[in-house]
Amino acid sequence: KTCILIGAPVDSGKRRAGCLMGPDALRTAGLTSALTGLGLQVKDFGNLVPAPHDVDSEDGPLYAPNQTIGWTKQLAETAEQAMDCGLPIFLGGDHALSLGSVVGVANYAASQGRPQFVLWLDAHTDFHTPLTTDSGNLHGTPVGYFTGRSDFDGFPEVEHPVPEDNVCMIGLRSVDTPEREALEASDIRRFDMRQIDEAGIAGPLSGFLEHVARNNGMLHVSLDVDFLDPSVAPAVGTTVPGGATVREAHLVCEMLHDSGLMTSLDLVELNPFLDERGRTAHLMVDLCASALGRRVFDRPTRSYS
Ligand code: ARG
Ligand code: MN
Ligand code: MN
Ligand code: MN
Repeated sequence: KTCILIGAPVDSGKRRAGCLMGPDALRTAGLTSALTGLGLQVKDFGNLVPAPHDVDSEDGPLYAPNQTIGWTKQLAETAEQAMDCGLPIFLGGDHALSLGSVVGVANYAASQGRPQFVLWLDAHTDFHTPLTTDSGNLHGTPVGYFTGRSDFDGFPEVEHPVPEDNVCMIGLRSVDTPEREALEASDIRRFDMRQIDEAGIAGPLSGFLEHVARNNGMLHVSLDVDFLDPSVAPAVGTTVPGGATVREAHLVCEMLHDSGLMTSLDLVELNPFLDERGRTAHLMVDLCASALGRRVFDRPTRSYS
């Protein structure tokens, strides 16, 4: 298997700067050697730049929409191409990068005649549209975009929206009112931290993996740093207390590897400027390694179908 590292120093999805340093922090934390140490091939495509776009004005309700449009175009195109070469790992960059990465992999899945599934590991649902967001930060909108919600004026048309029932969110603990209302009217599968506390994280995940396997789906995983508890992952601008523990996150990643279902991965929202001696970057690298097969003892691949 070949992993394709795609640096996406997207910093346009919110006002607080720093995620542009994320790809290089993940590399510095040893991502390539962690993967080659598992016997994987690694190709590093380097860092992308956004497609040409209009200059953003300072006023208006949205922060830097044109730059985000440029990133979305570049990432969708690169993602679709990279799917032909291996398993792309998008090194963020803030979560606005997933407007492009998910649309790109979904276009590829459609070209293969297979359905696209998305596992969203996040404190937030990121289900806003440009009209419902209060903050104006487009990192709060990728799920709205790739599931085909309207009002993304100026963004590329989403040709192959991901069906709501193919999306599963785990780790939720900060959901805005318009997002909650839209989610409740949707078929998106969602598990908040209360459910994880009560029943554990393995049950919800294996239910979703069975669903992916039964449908011969392609599975994109989007891991937001703030899925994790801030005590173990401080390097993110949108910390929310009460997040996943180190072991809960590793278990998710280990189960993903056992399933053999993951076909692409985002590592997003790492802001190295806020980190403590690289600990968050190292944790993200370790989680990525778990998702790609690092373990204490070998286990057989588990069939979910
Ligand atoms: N819901 C909030 C907003 O729209 C927070 C979004 C946080 N998203 C993220 N990818 N960290 O601003
Ligand atoms: Mn997010
Ligand atoms: Mn197509
Ligand atoms: Mn988040």
